[in-house]
Amino acid sequence: MSFLKEIQKRRTFGIISHPDAGKTTLTEKLLLFGGAIQEAGAVKSNKIKKGATSDFMEIERQRGISVATSVLAFNYRDKKINILDTPGHKDFAEDTFRTLTAVDSVIVVIDVAKGVEEQTEKLVEVCRMRNIPMIVFINKLDREGKDAFDLLDEVEQKLGLRVTPLSFPIGMGYDFKGIYNIWEKKINIFSGDNKQTISAGVEFDDINTPELDKLVGETSANTLREELEMVYEVYPDFNKKEYDEGQLQPVFFGSALNNFGVKELLDCFIDIAPNPQPKMSDSRLVDAKEEKLTGFVFKIHANMDPKHRDRLAFVKIVSGTFKRNTPYLHVRHNKKVKFSSPNAFFAEKKEIVEESFAGDIVGLHDTGNFKIGDTLTEGEKLNFKGIPSFSPEHFRYVNNADPLKAKQLYKGLDQLMDEGVAQLFTLDMNGRKIIGTVGALQYEVIQYRLEHEYGAKCSYENIAVHKACWVQPEDEKNEEFKEFKRVKQRYLAKDKQGQLVFLADSAFTIQMTQSKYPTVKLHFTSEFK
Ligand code: G4P
Repeated sequence: MSFLKEIQKRRTFGIISHPDAGKTTLTEKLLLFGGAIQEAGAVKSNKIKKGATSDFMEIERQRGISVATSVLAFNYRDKKINILDTPGHKDFAEDTFRTLTAVDSVIVVIDVAKGVEEQTEKLVEVCRMRNIPMIVFINKLDREGKDAFDLLDEVEQKLGLRVTPLSFPIGMGYDFKGIYNIWEKKINIFSGDNKQTISAGVEFDDINTPELDKLVGETSANTLREELEMVYEVYPDFNKKEYDEGQLQPVFFGSALNNFGVKELLDCFIDIAPNPQPKMSDSRLVDAKEEKLTGFVFKIHANMDPKHRDRLAFVKIVSGTFKRNTPYLHVRHNKKVKFSSPNAFFAEKKEIVEESFAGDIVGLHDTGNFKIGDTLTEGEKLNFKGIPSFSPEHFRYVNNADPLKAKQLYKGLDQLMDEGVAQLFTLDMNGRKIIGTVGALQYEVIQYRLEHEYGAKCSYENIAVHKACWVQPEDEKNEEFKEFKRVKQRYLAKDKQGQLVFLADSAFTIQMTQSKYPTVKLHFTSEFK
């Protein structure tokens, strides 16, 4: 069956890194190899430059670019590759967490000089918890950085990974001469300083050839031979099963900017990266090869034009084929819907498609019917797991600053929350609304967008909340839970799904509450069942 072939061809992954490690540059080089773009500079970085936190034009610019780079697809060898963009900025970490629910594997980019940085640690931890297969790319080898073995140690220790280098650098910085490709047992020596072009390099099959000494000098050649011996001795051999299960992570070295080591990475990625994986739903494990369509919304993007309030919902197809103009069940609404202009993504363009397959992402125009986590099927009532809300880090009351525009304000808030910009909590006691966000930047984004897209104005008021804890009583009827609700009444709220949340003012309060009411469990994420 041809649809099975299509699914086997898909490789859907995300690149994660701390800002500035080189994610955008690497993405661009991968697209160049795929022939999807012709020149460097075509993929715009969607990162928010430092100091731009209150620059609304920058926020708008970023939104525009991030829709364009949300999904970048290209063909390479006989595979169709889908790269899902993951914002590196920490204020958008939740966006990234959600995108990670839609990938089948991940490439982690690390700066050779800076080593493992904060955002990398957080994102890798999420991937590790979900056993997502990961490949590590150590970038910027054209600059002086840390020793390769020290870095491998750091990756193991700080990220909790078990690594196996599949390429190894010959020199570094000014002396960076090339890459030994452990995966294919080849050497690529790079020539010239013609940056931005794809250099073919010279290939050897035998590490002991005197030719190597001639090309890189005797000292570098001998160092490489010694280092490789050490690699073979210290690190485990590559094992596909362990990689697939998230137990072993191959490491590559290179320089994305100069296109050194990128082809090695891509060729190996094509060989080993998993095709669309099964996904757990609330009723059963759904296999990508099932004929019937299932998919879920992992991202919603508002239209850039404030006059048209339609949005683009990004759906990851988990199984089967998505067809244009075919009715599918919107499980939460229990309603059939069909789409006349589903978008597929190719390089930096999007276009209407007739069919997409498991592993692909389709962009659906939406006027407010979707929210993150919504599932589409051919009739089966299931919901995919693994798209939880995490406790926000910042909390503020939101007040209506223009009494005549209350309706607009609530509509705007409702839609922005569905997009996943922030989380809204409603206090049980008095119905006041609290917005929780991952970063302070979102408050400005919300204020700006409410005004420009909905014509509403809001103001914020501080509130002392440390964490939102989702409440899970062992028994709703027991006395302990009743007492908990009575005593904590002022701090109880509902999230947008109507789940009970305890807004704790300190870590100490959480600890005390937990020990006083042991049958009432407190969770930092909304998905705990
Ligand atoms: P990001 O998406 O992970 O945030 O990183 P991005 O690719 O934008 O790269 C961050 C900076 O690092 C860029 O420089 C980029 O040119 C540089 N860079 C990426 N790969 C390499 C590499 O292999 N070697 C060296 N030396 N630099 C690299 P910038 O000056 O911040 O941006 P730009 O003005 O050049 O765009």
